[in-house]
Amino acid sequence: MTAPRPILGIETSCDETAAAVVDADGHILSSIVFSQTVHAAHGGVVPELASREHAGRLPAIVADALAAARVDWSDLSGIAVTAGPGLVGCLLVGVAYARAAARARGIPLVPVNHLEGHAHTPAMTDPAIIYPHLVLIASGGHSSLVIVEAPGVYRRLGRTRDDAAGEALDKVGKILGFAYPAGPEIDRAGEAGDPFAVGFPKARFTGQGYDFSFSGVKTAAALDWADRIKGRKPSLRREDWIASFERAVVEALSDNLFRAADDFSIKTAGLAGGVARNRRLRRTVAAWAEQTGRRAVIPSPDLCADNAAMIAAVGVYHWTPDLSVAASVDAVPNWELGLPFPLVRTP
Ligand code: KG4
Ligand code: ZN
Repeated sequence: MTAPRPILGIETSCDETAAAVVDADGHILSSIVFSQTVHAAHGGVVPELASREHAGRLPAIVADALAAARVDWSDLSGIAVTAGPGLVGCLLVGVAYARAAARARGIPLVPVNHLEGHAHTPAMTDPAIIYPHLVLIASGGHSSLVIVEAPGVYRRLGRTRDDAAGEALDKVGKILGFAYPAGPEIDRAGEAGDPFAVGFPKARFTGQGYDFSFSGVKTAAALDWADRIKGRKPSLRREDWIASFERAVVEALSDNLFRAADDFSIKTAGLAGGVARNRRLRRTVAAWAEQTGRRAVIPSPDLCADNAAMIAAVGVYHWTPDLSVAASVDAVPNWELGLPFPLVRTP
């Protein structure tokens, strides 16, 4: 069943406080995202600070999203909220708010998996997208490769065995002196550099899997940078070094995507997640599609980063009129993509 009227989406799983309204066709009517800045000085997201920021800002952000969409609470067919995966204290703020609002307004509540939100953004970008298609989800917390068989039906091919792609960018960026998150700075510096100046190692797994690993390239980069600083290796232009590291991360992601497209004969590949804002990754995937006669669906940078529009849009097709669901919606920090809510709880 799909929602008959607009859905309000709420996203508080990490360090973006977001609310959005989509209509019954999943079209975005409004999308408000507040990216928390308190973490920049700490070199990473501080969970306690993030939860407090969410709690302080969410009510006003919801009000702004409704006003911008020119939608009133009484026009909504329900509320969709990110229930996991994410930081438990952060998720709880969104879930508690959404449960209370749904109860107060007498409307259904839909728990949404954050990764499903990301995985749905190529379909939001191209509503005529062909199923099955591949989606590469690359963010600060996750790197996954999935086949989307139909809306809401996923087959996970691979995931990271250690760090997420964004985490590797952020950690190496920290060594370079960039504030958190370093991904955008690496993108900027990398545009001006020679990506072939340094050959960083790529993780290779035996067997046919599509898993990722970024801790090897992260450590190799950290050691290489220390060697250059201390004069044990020839010094390089900073932007060349950054472009080379960026290329290593981008190729680790795109190589798996391209191999899966070949292996499964899938013609359409989408990108999702904050790292999909990266220009080298976007260019690499677009060029591959062009050269191989495939279709690349690359969402706008705003839709790649954490937002509530993707949560609301997933809420449209998981909506049910059942008002009793709201009472059982809880934060599920390790909710696996593709598993139904709430059969995902681990002790
Ligand atoms: O999806 P997202 O907004 O939040 C999570 O769910 O994690 O992704 C955030 C990640 C961070 O690691 C950030 O450094 C990275 O996305 N990122 C980028 C770019 N913009 C954000 N990485 C590379 N290039 C960018 N332009
Ligand atoms: Zn995300």
